[in-house]
Amino acid sequence: MQPAVFLDRDGTVIEDRGHIGHPSDVTFYPETVSSLKQLQKQFQLFIVTNQAGIAEGTITRDDVERVNRYVTDHLAKQGINITAVYVCPHKRSDNCSCIKPNPHFLHSAASDYDIDLSRSYVVGDHPCDVHLAENAGATGIFVLSGHGSKHRRELSGNVVVEPGIKRAANRILEGGLPDRPSPRASGPVDRAADILRAGGVAVFPTETVYGIGASVFEPDGISRIFEIKKRPLMDPLIAHVACDDDVGALAENVPEKARLLARRFWPGPLTMVLPKDDRIPDVVTAGLPSVAIRMPDHPVALDLIRRTGSPIAAPSANFFGATSPSRLAHVDGEIRNEVDAVVDGGPCRVGVESTIISFCQKPIALLRPGGIAVEEIEEIIGDIALNPETKSEPAAPGMLDSHYAPTTPLVMQQSDEVATEDRRAGLLTFQEVSNPEKFESVEILSPAGDFREATRNLYAALHRLDALDLDVIVAEPCPVTGLGRAIMDRLERASG
Ligand code: TXA
Ligand code: MG
Repeated sequence: MQPAVFLDRDGTVIEDRGHIGHPSDVTFYPETVSSLKQLQKQFQLFIVTNQAGIAEGTITRDDVERVNRYVTDHLAKQGINITAVYVCPHKRSDNCSCIKPNPHFLHSAASDYDIDLSRSYVVGDHPCDVHLAENAGATGIFVLSGHGSKHRRELSGNVVVEPGIKRAANRILEGGLPDRPSPRASGPVDRAADILRAGGVAVFPTETVYGIGASVFEPDGISRIFEIKKRPLMDPLIAHVACDDDVGALAENVPEKARLLARRFWPGPLTMVLPKDDRIPDVVTAGLPSVAIRMPDHPVALDLIRRTGSPIAAPSANFFGATSPSRLAHVDGEIRNEVDAVVDGGPCRVGVESTIISFCQKPIALLRPGGIAVEEIEEIIGDIALNPETKSEPAAPGMLDSHYAPTTPLVMQQSDEVATEDRRAGLLTFQEVSNPEKFESVEILSPAGDFREATRNLYAALHRLDALDLDVIVAEPCPVTGLGRAIMDRLERASG
């Protein structure tokens, strides 16, 4: 059995121009061809489209077929094979069985082409595409192209949202998409939400690292986070939100540039420090007049925030100063025993903490490099201060020099400059090295030299090396561009 990607047509593969009756009205998105080429290496491709214009009499069935043939011929010329195009010609009031989100056509594909729906995806710009996935036991990805931005607010629960076909394809091919919440998985989230609502503490997954959280409005729960982590009270927490309204409740005002970044990167690994609303307890923000806010891109985290009914304040689920957990197994047993609930969400897709930007400093400043590259942020809001003078103030204690550290001493050095002699040394390197035999154990973050992959592997590799009881971990520097900035930041801090 094979997996497939079921693509919506208008607003996803081609621009949405209303009821398209003629090939001359077809405009492919510039990224469609390259994205589908990548996808078809691993997936069969189908198009599933609702064409109510036929029932409404604005276009004919022949028109739609001509347009579809034009679309598939154009793609075929580029070497892309669309296995089948499914068209529902009805309008919703016809109550047919084939209109999306009914799973009729996906069931046809499953039996006609031997498709494994549980490993398949639906990509589309309408909530009905996401519901189609749910109804068929597949995974839905909502894109903001076409009518996506307009309909985004109608989405509920655990939906993966991407700007367009290209990022949706990347997301599918990267794997690591969080599992769909199965009926089994909704139990722990519900229980954890009950606990948080009652002022308790829970460990939960995000796309960056695991967090240890409490409701932002429950000071007792928040205080316990500090105790459990052995974290100084002067180190403020990040408030995790699930929607724009939550931000309004936490921030006194949201500058226009912060709105632009939120629109582009949320949900995602970006934290913004904004002027705080008086209702937030001081213990969350360490008494600062500002609050750090982020919308995590993980269905379990978003679900947990929604079910709790308030934002969740959470630092990473490690002891203060230690290496962050990018999977549940990294969370120290002592921490797991102390909290009231633990929710598993699999390995974290990003693997390193969020990028933190402060809007409470002039100019706007980078407080911590992380899962979104600075270059991408500057593309949207212009230059920001990369090395702000914050070390003397309590503004960003996460910037403490020693942090993210394994218990084994870590030094930054090129592998060929290291004298290992009678020391048991482990090596953490970005790509392969010429002298692996000098080391007890070698962790290569990305054989292909890809920063995203390297970031995702960083903490797991550090945790593995740290477990070997070595005398020293040697970490090779990597370039300080894109996500490399976050990797180097963590390694430098880990080396103290
Ligand atoms: O990806 C992440 O950001 C993860 C996940 C769980 O969301 N969280 C995380 O939290 O890394 P934590 O507490 O380990 O790091 C938060 C950083 C700290 O360095 C803290 O000093 C800084 O954010 N921070 C929080 N509130 C701040 C504020 N009002 N002003 C300046 N810095 C702030
Ligand atoms: Mg941390």
